[in-house]
Amino acid sequence: MRAIRIDRHGGPDVLTVDDIAEPVLAADEVLIRTTATSLNPVDWKTRAWEVGPPLPATLGWDISGRVVASNDPSHQVGDEVIAMSAQIATGRGTWADLVALPGHLVTAAPTGVPLADAAALPLAGVTALQALRNAELAAGERVLIVGAAGAVGGLAVQLARSMGVHSDALVSRPEHEAAAVELGAEHVWHRPADLPRGHYPVVLDTAGLDASAALAVGGRYVSISDEPLPDVPGARKSYVQESAADLASIAKLVDTGELRVRIAARYSLEDIRAAHERFEAGGLLGKILVTF
Ligand SMILES: NC(=O)c1ccc[n+]([C@@H]2O[C@H](COP(=O)([O-])OP(=O)(O)OC[C@H]3O[C@@H](n4cnc5c(N)ncnc54)[C@H](OP(=O)(O)O)[C@@H]3O)[C@@H](O)[C@H]2O)c1
Repeated sequence: MRAIRIDRHGGPDVLTVDDIAEPVLAADEVLIRTTATSLNPVDWKTRAWEVGPPLPATLGWDISGRVVASNDPSHQVGDEVIAMSAQIATGRGTWADLVALPGHLVTAAPTGVPLADAAALPLAGVTALQALRNAELAAGERVLIVGAAGAVGGLAVQLARSMGVHSDALVSRPEHEAAAVELGAEHVWHRPADLPRGHYPVVLDTAGLDASAALAVGGRYVSISDEPLPDVPGARKSYVQESAADLASIAKLVDTGELRVRIAARYSLEDIRAAHERFEAGGLLGKILVTF
């Protein structure tokens, strides 16, 4: 079967489509034939930086596809599913024709969008949901979402709205302001200096920008970025955890129309190097999908 692998760290040229053995299904695992995956920053960081499992390794965290064999009674052959695999810790990459995952990581795909498009949801969606939860937001509160046009930020804006939380947004460029408003942000800025000082009870940073000047005294500052936290009492990082329950909540919100799946571009797996180049160039309003 085909798999997108690296045997060394470096630029997009280290990505190769290899022919490797099909996975052998263990107890409680589900075998998924991949329909699509999506690119996340962790994928290019794993490729470029000296991080992740021993090499050679198959990359990828997101998957949508169909179950073709199952040792878990909660998943049947033919089911359309999505899953997130914490590749960097476990070495189980999803960028392959067939992927074996523990059944407890797999959940039903939303029915309201094409199965391929659902591959845009797992890592970004679960990260956004868990980060908002870590921010302990209450209905009626207001959060500033930094990087609101990005994958996690864009889902966080929509999730906040579904929780009855107001969100304002900082985006990287003026042409992204309208997109943040469409997702549900009420006030949008593209220049950090324009943010109201000491205003927000909660700031969620998805872009690695120190927006602590906008935080109210006693407010909660949550970051998902790799950058060091600002010197704010109680500032915390939110690290995504594999959770099929959280993924199922995301899928449900897609089906109720509360979450919109944004796709910026589609590539076939043979064009994975071009997909990485486009992704790293930034400025996207939606995910990059890779179809199998
Ligand atoms: N902690 C965790 O568990 C976890 C989980 C998932 C992701 N992450 C990390 O979280 C970050 C975001 O992930 P993602 O998938 O949402 O990436 P993404 O889709 O690339 O989104 C990042 C967004 O931030 C914007 N941005 C960059 N600099 C900015 C600035 N100064 N002001 C406002 N916006 C700015 C980017 O705009 P441009 O494209 O125009 O630059 C982009 O819209 C990445 O660093 C990723 O590695 C962490």
